Amino acid sequence: MLKPESRIFVAGHRGLVGSAISRRLRELGHGALLEAGREALDLTDAVAVSDFFEKERPEFVFLAAAKVGGILANSTYPAEFLAQNLRIQDAVITAAMRNGTEKLVFLGSSCIYPRDAVQPITEDQLLAGPLEPTNQWYAIAKIAGIKLVQAYRQQHDFAGIAAMPTNLYGPNDNFDPEGSHVIPGMLRRFHEAKLSGAPSVTVWGSGTPKREFLHVDDLADALVLLMNRYDNSEIINVGTGEDITIAELAQIVAEVTGYAGEIAFDTSKPDGAPRKVLNIDKIRALGWQPKIDFRTGLAETYRWYCDHVD
Ligand SMILES: NC(=O)c1ccc[n+]([C@@H]2O[C@H](COP(=O)([O-])OP(=O)(O)OC[C@H]3O[C@@H](n4cnc5c(N)ncnc54)[C@H](OP(=O)(O)O)[C@@H]3O)[C@@H](O)[C@H]2O)c1
Repeated sequence: MLKPESRIFVAGHRGLVGSAISRRLRELGHGALLEAGREALDLTDAVAVSDFFEKERPEFVFLAAAKVGGILANSTYPAEFLAQNLRIQDAVITAAMRNGTEKLVFLGSSCIYPRDAVQPITEDQLLAGPLEPTNQWYAIAKIAGIKLVQAYRQQHDFAGIAAMPTNLYGPNDNFDPEGSHVIPGMLRRFHEAKLSGAPSVTVWGSGTPKREFLHVDDLADALVLLMNRYDNSEIINVGTGEDITIAELAQIVAEVTGYAGEIAFDTSKPDGAPRKVLNIDKIRALGWQPKIDFRTGLAETYRWYCDHVD
């Protein structure tokens, strides 16, 4: 159980997820946060990570550092997605286990479930079918991370758990056009179309696929709850359990950014899976549910983009 004075290492504290965890922990009065940026500690360097753990002795670890990106980045840099994630996970989870860390939360992802998973996706579907080929490198690395946590629990009684968040959005997201996910990508494109007075914005695909989105502050709230209340080798989903079509998303993004032009759909581009949504019965049973309304969260994320990126 986290205490106000607990020594907590948030690995990846400048990223979308890590920064939200740090914010949440500070709000809750946890002052002893250990944060080391990439320049101070390269998490792929197992020796440096081991030294850091020996010196700092974190009692709790949120492992939110990873090489993350969209389809284009995954297919352009498969070796980095596989090798860097394997290294980061092995270095941090092993150092935590060896240096007396009381509990560690590892971040999996809904996108590592099988390509044809039955919807809504329950936790038992992990490894129940072939992966989506475009992000298989990242998926294999993440699955290895989950297995490492489970293996250390079985062999060394180490209290590591793995959470499976759905698609996230919020402040500190990556708005780089080359590497961004659907929400930051759309916010940027609609914002730029508004500024340039473009008559229409074209969205990839038919607009009919359905996707689930969770505000990263809701995720951070869930991860703190899991750190305090969940101690089991089984993975646990974190999402809203609700999905919207890409066309509905584009309409909301247009409204939030104030774009008044037309929204067109390029049906020559692939749609991907028709539906992707998590079953969240397990985390609901622990008393958690998302609180942030989608439109409100998106508007706040757009304000953050205007203030920090644009
Ligand atoms: N974003 C999503 O929609 C989503 C959905 C489900 C699960 N997740 C999971 O959540 C976790 C965090 O994702 P995110 O979206 O927050 O990613 P992110 O915004 O890219 O943040 C990742 C963080 O990891 C750090 N990092 C990467 N490699 C490092 C290294 N070698 N040494 C030190 N730091 C390193 C980055 O540092 P720099 O700032 O220096 O680059 C960055 O702060 C990942 O495990 C991801 O799989 C994310």
